[in-house]
Amino acid sequence: MSDAAPAGVVVGDLEKVYVDPRTAEEVVAIRGLDLTIEPNEFVSIIGPSGCGKTTFLHMLAGLRKATGGRMLVHGKPITRPGADRGMVFQDYALLPWKTARENVEFGLKIKGLPAAERTATADRYLRQVGLDGFQNKYPRELSGGMQQRVALARALANTPEILLMDEPFASVDALTRISLQELLMQLWESEPRTIVFVTHSVEEAVFLSSKVAVFSARPGRCARIVPIDLPRPRRWAALQAHPRTAELRQELLALVQGGIAAPVGVA
Ligand SMILES: Nc1ncnc2c1ncn2[C@@H]1O[C@H](COP(=O)(O)OP(=O)(O)OP(=O)(O)O)[C@@H](O)[C@H]1O
Ligand SMILES: [Mg+2]
Repeated sequence: MSDAAPAGVVVGDLEKVYVDPRTAEEVVAIRGLDLTIEPNEFVSIIGPSGCGKTTFLHMLAGLRKATGGRMLVHGKPITRPGADRGMVFQDYALLPWKTARENVEFGLKIKGLPAAERTATADRYLRQVGLDGFQNKYPRELSGGMQQRVALARALANTPEILLMDEPFASVDALTRISLQELLMQLWESEPRTIVFVTHSVEEAVFLSSKVAVFSARPGRCARIVPIDLPRPRRWAALQAHPRTAELRQELLALVQGGIAAPVGVA
C-alpha cells in the first residue's frame, strides 16, 4: 500500500480529438472539460451516447492521450497506466481460460506477490463479493452477475486508489444490478476510495454517487455537477422511499433529456 495521500483528480480544459488515419477526418470527442474529483469521492458520469465518457475513463486510465488540457492525479500528469488506477468494464473482460481465483490473482502476480499471499488475497476479495465456494470455477460456469462480481473482486484486490468503472452493471438483469450496486456501496462505505463511474442510469447514479457530473453532447464537457445529498449508509429499499431520491432523479433526468448546454453553475 502506498502511504501517499488519497488520490484526487484535477482535469482542466481537457480535449481529445480523434483523427482517422485513412481520411484525416477529425472527431472532437471532448473539448473544454473541467472536473475536480476529491479524494475518496464517488463520482458518476452521465451523458448522451458518444459524448466521450469512455474516452475520458480511458484517458484517466492512461490508455489514451489527451490532445489538449490537463489531467492530474496527486498533482502529477497522467502519462501511462498505473497500479494506482484500476478499471472495470461493462463486459467483465475475464480471462476465459482462468478460474475465478486465477482471474483475481492475475494482477497480483504481475505485481510480484508470492503465491500463498496471492491466493489468500484473491479468496478474501472473492468472499467479500459473495463468491466463496466458486474460486475454482471458470467464467463460463458463472452467471453474468457472478462474472461481474469476479471482475469487481479483481479490481479491488489490486487496491487501486482510483477505481474507474465503465457501465459495469449494464449487462446484468435488474435484480442482480441492484444487488451489485448495494455490494459496491457496502464495499465503498467500509473502505472508501476514489471511484469514477460511468452510467446511463439516473437511478444508479443517484443511489451510488457523492456527486454526478452531467456531460453535454459531443464534444463532451462537464456541463453540470449535481451533489447527491442523500444519507449514508445507503440501502436500496430505504432510499427508494426517501423523498429526496425522486427529486434528484427528476433533476438529473431533466438535465440529460434537455440536452444541457449551459456552462457549470449556470441554471
Ligand atoms: N478509437 C477511436 N477512434 C476514433 N474515434 C473514436 C474512438 N473511440 C471513440 N471515438 C469517437 O469519440 C466519440 C466519443 O466516444 P466514446 O466511446 O468516448 O463515447 P461514450 O460517451 O462512451 O458513448 P456511449 O455512451 O455510447 O458508451 C464518438 O464520436 C466516437 O465515435
Ligand atoms: Mg462508452
